[in-house]
Amino acid sequence: VVVDGIGLLVTNRPEMGEGPLGLLRDAAVVADGDRVSWVGPASQIPGGAPGPRLDAGGRCLIPGFVDSHTHLVFAGDRSDEFAARMAGLPYRAGGISTTVASTRAATEAELTARAERLAREALASGTTTIEVKSGYGLTVFDEARILLVTSRLADRPDLPSVDPTFLGAHVVPPEHLQDPDGYVELVRGPMLEACAPRARWCDAFCERGAFDADQCREVLRAGAAHGLGLRLHANQLGPGPGAQLAAEVGATSADHLTHLSPADVDALTQAGVVATLLPVAEFSTRSPYPDARRLLAAGVVVALATDCNPGTSYTTCMPLVVALAVREMGLTPDQALWGATAGGAAALDRQDIGALGPGDRADMVLLEAPSHIHLAYRPGVPLVGAVVLGGSLVVGQPPAGVARP
Ligand code: NIG
Ligand code: FE
Repeated sequence: VVVDGIGLLVTNRPEMGEGPLGLLRDAAVVADGDRVSWVGPASQIPGGAPGPRLDAGGRCLIPGFVDSHTHLVFAGDRSDEFAARMAGLPYRAGGISTTVASTRAATEAELTARAERLAREALASGTTTIEVKSGYGLTVFDEARILLVTSRLADRPDLPSVDPTFLGAHVVPPEHLQDPDGYVELVRGPMLEACAPRARWCDAFCERGAFDADQCREVLRAGAAHGLGLRLHANQLGPGPGAQLAAEVGATSADHLTHLSPADVDALTQAGVVATLLPVAEFSTRSPYPDARRLLAAGVVVALATDCNPGTSYTTCMPLVVALAVREMGLTPDQALWGATAGGAAALDRQDIGALGPGDRADMVLLEAPSHIHLAYRPGVPLVGAVVLGGSLVVGQPPAGVARP
């Protein structure tokens, strides 16, 4: 694929252009196979560049969104819970059990079809890499089944690339309520044994009503012993030990971080933990937003993600995340775009995505807009005109612009 006529190109490679986003004007990108092979001024496209040509017509091209936090595999619907919450009831972690019951009752085919639909939906709004957590099965069989469904998604070249996470420590399931430590034993033993081969990450929900710091530490240590990278749901519903635990165990990312003390921010900074903020969870639970500017000021890398799940954030839409991060969390449009692309890549410890320089994966999104600022400036408007996934055009066929060389 050759994309030319790009009015504004976001490379996220500061050495290639202006500012931290490495902006280039009147640019072109050449992809060879699934990789970017050349980036530069449209007037200097190398001769004999292969493949179909996509004329951006002066529009903006950005790296595909990296959604580094989702719970994509589940069954059921909790719209009644949402409606009750909007009428004044608080959110409680216990709602997760409702989805666990629906997920256990669903067939594997149903789970696959539903996850596939959500993955397609994510792709249509510009997501080219998506992290997918288990956590709605909570038995050895059901967690392994969710990771199997996840691995099927990962095999599909027409869907976003999938990065799988084991979240057996999401909540204590009903059958273990009398024996939470027994459940932790199960998670760090047989469940991890069954799930680790299909996962790259181990996560836990450190929160009142879910797991305490000691329980999460045990699970994360066991995950690390199985070779998994670590991430943690931390300080979402109230202050707690999660952020400092993430720092202590060397987690790649701590997620949510709505309620942070100065010592928490310090610990994240010192340990170099990426802060993954999930503003639609605050939007959909009517909660205060995390203080993104304070984290940035402390030198923490901030990623933005959807948290797609049926309880707190039923969206796959990264442009909405960007708009909320700008409007409600005070990020600049540049910082928000970076967090939703390069920030997500950092949260997944991936060097080959989230940017558009030579050698990077050719995952790119053509916006129906002259700049990425429109993602926040035109909230709720579907601005994704085309998506190139690993060098192939998978969404959108701007007919006027596509020509064979
Ligand atoms: O990330 N925090 C824990 N898990 C989800 C909520 C899951 C649910 O309510 O089903 C979250 O917000
Ligand atoms: Fe989550």
